[in-house]
Amino acid sequence: MSENKRLEKGAGRGVVLRLMKLMTPYLPAIALCVLCVLLVNAAQLVKPYVLKIVVDDYLTAGIDRGVQPLIALGLVYFAVIALGSLAGMFQSRILSRVCQKILATLRVQAFDHIHRMPLADMDDMGSGRLLTRSTNDIETLNEFYVDVLIGLFKDVFLIAGIVVMMFAMSWRLALMGLVTLPLIILITLLCKGALRRNFVRMKALIGRINGFLSESISGIRVIQAFSREKNKYDQLYDLDRQYRKTTLFQVTMNSVMRPLMEFINIGATAILLLYAFGRVETGVIEVGVIVAFNSYIRQFFDPINDLAEKYNSVQSALVSADRVFSLLDDDANLEQPDAPGYDETMRGRVEFRHVWFAYVGEEWVLRDVSFTVNPGEKAAFVGATGAGKTTIISLISRFYRPQKGEILIDGVPVEEWKLSALRKQISVVLQDVFLFTGTIADNVRIHGDIDDAQVARAIELSCADGFVKRLPDGMNAPVAERGATFSTGERQLLSFARAIAHDPAILVLDEATANIDSETERVIQRSIESISKGRTALFIAHRLSTIRACDAIYVLEHGQIVEQGTHEELMAKGGLYASMSAVQEAETAS
Ligand SMILES: Nc1ncnc2c1ncn2[C@@H]1O[C@H](COP(=O)(O)OP(=O)(O)OP(=O)(O)O)[C@@H](O)[C@H]1O
Ligand SMILES: [Mg+2]
Repeated sequence: MSENKRLEKGAGRGVVLRLMKLMTPYLPAIALCVLCVLLVNAAQLVKPYVLKIVVDDYLTAGIDRGVQPLIALGLVYFAVIALGSLAGMFQSRILSRVCQKILATLRVQAFDHIHRMPLADMDDMGSGRLLTRSTNDIETLNEFYVDVLIGLFKDVFLIAGIVVMMFAMSWRLALMGLVTLPLIILITLLCKGALRRNFVRMKALIGRINGFLSESISGIRVIQAFSREKNKYDQLYDLDRQYRKTTLFQVTMNSVMRPLMEFINIGATAILLLYAFGRVETGVIEVGVIVAFNSYIRQFFDPINDLAEKYNSVQSALVSADRVFSLLDDDANLEQPDAPGYDETMRGRVEFRHVWFAYVGEEWVLRDVSFTVNPGEKAAFVGATGAGKTTIISLISRFYRPQKGEILIDGVPVEEWKLSALRKQISVVLQDVFLFTGTIADNVRIHGDIDDAQVARAIELSCADGFVKRLPDGMNAPVAERGATFSTGERQLLSFARAIAHDPAILVLDEATANIDSETERVIQRSIESISKGRTALFIAHRLSTIRACDAIYVLEHGQIVEQGTHEELMAKGGLYASMSAVQEAETAS
């Protein structure tokens, strides 16, 4: 069953219970909150009763009792209102604090969860959906705590209180006042399903809009370069139109419910007055009681009106909660970077034993790949695009797991390594370099704290010092989002500095020298030689000239190693490598 279908059906009680469980650390504060709510409600309930006493005992009874008791009652009335308001203020303050703390906890949990998600799950999920769950959806839970939980408690308590007060004063009148109740319940039940389905759709659409926006903003250059603005605009417009529909539906529901409730309210008052007709005169009912009832019925409909609207919030919050929890619950495959495991200093031996791997199903991207790279050796992987080179290095760092075969580092299967130890000692320079906002130094010391001298040394070793020194702030120069203000070559060099800053045992460079001019290529070549000295290094290169000195070269074709050997051996063999090399020679010569 698709996730939306499941959400439309609603997980219901389980979700509510979990939301309540999140409150357990704040029980004292919540108890205080409840106390305040009780005070607010008590004040609400007492007000009409005071009015009744005024009318029956003082106004209709004549003036012979003097005005003093009336003033005293007025003061009581005033005090009750003041107390109620104070309690209300106090309550909303406590509640918001608790609520924000709970939301913060959830936000951090979601963030942590997303960061530990295996890449395979991440590919499926998409950034927009993850983003929406950790922002909008969690924010909506605010409504659950403020409107629903405390609001509901307040409303239900008030309604119960009113019913009790009404029955205590006159059970006949009370029954008359409540004849409309079944109608209200019926209407609410009828709207329930439609509202919930609408909220599920609404939230899924917000997710898609967020994803669309974040992708469009990060891909803005491509969009501009290909003049796709209009096209993207139309796509967004279309998404937005669908979203508008869901919002409109919700607003329509609200705008129908409110007047409907108002009608019922008036109906209830009319019934009350009709019933009272003639009975006041005969003394069966006191005028004060009618006055009080009139107030109570109005008060009774306020929370009911509220309830109907809160019903919206409840549905919205529950759908969100369900979405957040379904993300958090999906933790079977979560990575545990610090789970116990093999945690030794790496010597740098990499071994693949008959590794088979597919991203989806049985579409093998790697077929029976076996090779060994000994500590300090340099190996290179070459092959056509899509041959599976990047996939090999993703497996070494355990970003994905192979379906068959074994990958060993220093003779220990990668699954048995402590993940943080594994990733700290294997530095991977990815095909597309990602720089974070901050300074150059921040980006270099990404793995953890190292001092400025070590950062400077890494920059120097990777030959990045040439351009870093030219910047006004040197290595403290700011880096814009994704390093947009640096050239591709400069970004590449910075990623090298980052890779060796922590002196890893194994260095993996993916596609280091693609798409750059020959001057930069020479700098990068020098940088690679310098940073790979004294450690195991795996290179992936399209330019065969850069890997001639490697101890072993593996030629991949459709996920299989079809040739292997040194440059000389492979040239002598006259196979795929030799022909690739010949083509490239001819290209550079021309
Ligand atoms: N996350 C993924 N999900 C599904 N298929 C993928 C994924 N990443 C890569 N592939 C597929 O796996 C195959 C091998 O991809 P890989 O990135 O390893 O190629 P490559 O040899 O590095 O190519 P290039 O030289 O272009 O970088 C390709 O057919 C690609 O479409
Ligand atoms: Mg690749």
